[in-house]
Amino acid sequence: MSPFQLTRTLAEDAADAALRADVLHGLTRDPKELPPKWFYDARGSELFEEITRLPEYYPTRAEREILMARSEEIAAATGAQTLVELGSGSSEKTRHLIDALLPGLVAYVPVDVSESALKGAGEALAAERPGLRVHALVADFTHGLDLPDAPGPRLVAFLGGTIGNLLPGERREFLRAVRGMLSPGDALLLGTDLVKDEATLVAAYDDAAGVTAAFNKNVLAVIDRELGADARLEDFDHVALWNREREWIEMRLRARHALSVKIPELDLVVPFEAGEELRTEVSAKFRQEGVRTELAEAGLSLTRWWTDGEGRFALSLATVD
Ligand code: SAH
Ligand code: AVI
Repeated sequence: MSPFQLTRTLAEDAADAALRADVLHGLTRDPKELPPKWFYDARGSELFEEITRLPEYYPTRAEREILMARSEEIAAATGAQTLVELGSGSSEKTRHLIDALLPGLVAYVPVDVSESALKGAGEALAAERPGLRVHALVADFTHGLDLPDAPGPRLVAFLGGTIGNLLPGERREFLRAVRGMLSPGDALLLGTDLVKDEATLVAAYDDAAGVTAAFNKNVLAVIDRELGADARLEDFDHVALWNREREWIEMRLRARHALSVKIPELDLVVPFEAGEELRTEVSAKFRQEGVRTELAEAGLSLTRWWTDGEGRFALSLATVD
């Protein structure tokens, strides 16, 4: 079995302080909002995996189709010896890329806030791919990411369309930070969901089986457990809507009636009016020119653009200018 190492760059107390700060800030502002990274405790990571198998949730299948068709090309273009994956989750689709990059690939560095997801994926990969060094990092990819020493060329993958969960200003900052991690000869592989008809988009975020609703409400379960709050999941409705102007899906939790949530750890009581909404996620959808422009603003050149057969999802390969 090849080596598997897991490093926590997020100390427990730092993660706890970040949750407190986000909840205090997000639930005392108007309109209320929370960052989506708090969905992903062990249960949230499981629910996300369930979402990826739903008939309505096309992005995972579409991106897998592209990876299956293009991984050899990506491997030839990058010759990567180290693959860093941000927000790696189960690393399930990444296996196609890893297999194409082997045997030249020396190290795989999955980075995620979800320790349970990293452990499950990392241990399995290290066991199945002898010779591949798997060094998992529990870290927030939006804050001062410090990568372990590993040989170049490096390929940084950011798959699944997770970049769409960052707000435009956060995306700008994030892409600049990624640019800062890359040396000449390194590359970024970026997955982006594409703008399409509203019905397809809304169905992907409001599935008939209610799995996305459970995923959305999981953020309340995290706050209840971690901060001793008393939010009742059944007091909120799951809302998914398409914001045509911003070209993003918004997930919200809507209070079914007037209520208040006590958060003893923050010494805070949060009132909700009947029908008041808390925004829990944006999921931006992209067009090729927008991706090219955002990459260019960060000092990255779009060199390849691949989509699935139905043009639903894109993978971009970008290099440093
Ligand atoms: N890349 C996988 C998983 C996407 S789900 C796929 O394409 O299927 C998004 C992943 O990003 C989750 O595993 C979540 O835990 C992680 N994540 C979300 N916000 C993060 C952050 N700020 N820092 C690190 N990981 C984050
Ligand atoms: C991880 N991310 C790209 C998913 C998305 O589609 O925005 C998270 C998700 N939210 C609801 N369903 C899936």
